[in-house]
Amino acid sequence: RHKVIFDTDPGVDDAMALRFLTRRPEFDLLAVTTVFGNLDIGTVTRNALWLADRMDLSVPVARGAAAPLARARGHGAPHVHGANGLGDIPLTGPLTGLLADPSVRAADPRPAWQVIVELVRAHPGEVTLIAVGPLTNLALALAHDPEIAGLVAGVSLMGGAFGTRGHRGNVSPVAEANILSDPEAADRVVTAPWPVTMLGLDVTQHVVMDAAYLDRLGAAGGADGVFLRAVSRFYQAFHERSRGLAGIFAHDSLAVIQVMAPHLFTLRRGPVRVACGGIADGQTIQKPDGVPCPPLPAWDVHPAQAVAVDVDAAGALTLYAET
Ligand code: BDR
Ligand code: CA
Repeated sequence: RHKVIFDTDPGVDDAMALRFLTRRPEFDLLAVTTVFGNLDIGTVTRNALWLADRMDLSVPVARGAAAPLARARGHGAPHVHGANGLGDIPLTGPLTGLLADPSVRAADPRPAWQVIVELVRAHPGEVTLIAVGPLTNLALALAHDPEIAGLVAGVSLMGGAFGTRGHRGNVSPVAEANILSDPEAADRVVTAPWPVTMLGLDVTQHVVMDAAYLDRLGAAGGADGVFLRAVSRFYQAFHERSRGLAGIFAHDSLAVIQVMAPHLFTLRRGPVRVACGGIADGQTIQKPDGVPCPPLPAWDVHPAQAVAVDVDAAGALTLYAET
């Protein structure tokens, strides 16, 4: 079983990824850590506690960074995820009879970065960090304890846009939202000496849960299905408005699926950097291994990381629906 920490800014697709993860026997969830992103840190932490409560998770939920390492915080994405971050489904009172009580849990007293450091040190070589929000908590954990880079099993993150399949940015022509939310943190995370696999828009926009698929989840998925259908409606309306897409991108679930089903992905290896500032702020760039390049220390001193460039979309969708 993969021991995992789920670092998240819930977030509709974050919630959908967490539900998938916690229904799979391949995973042993150690903690949920939160980070500003889709909404402010108070809202996303409330959401993580509410989800943990609803999903009966007996793991710590730790509040993380409220702002990027080196910049002012952005405005979040209430137009994408709803004002409450969970598609504006009611978090109190009955919705379907399944969504009853507000969370009564409290967050872990430790900051997210500390929970990450302590769990990685407690299980050397065993913990996979699944990061589906801005990378601030991971950068802070590295800053406090750089040795954890050599102690994790790996980092699987949803973020970036490499343009390999024509998929460019979703918050600028070149930048993806999680990365542009904290480019300095992202650059530290992808250049650290730990094995990173990046699931960017190149693959996540290739896995579309269309309206019929979501309806089937709702009809056949029991209480989970009812929840997933309800939470995804606002997100679907955003995709319809902004992309003419009658469905949603699976985004964060791909970072989970990659850990347990790596055969569904084609990976390209090579050092990755993140542009920090200027017109290409937040752009993710990879120098593929084996591509001749003059000796540019900015690239070649950094470890090769894995970037997903293709996905078996049907395979990923089937796995999610079956779960
Ligand atoms: C990413 O940004 C967030 O809005 C989603 O939750 C996902 O993690 C997609 O760019
Ligand atoms: Ca997210």
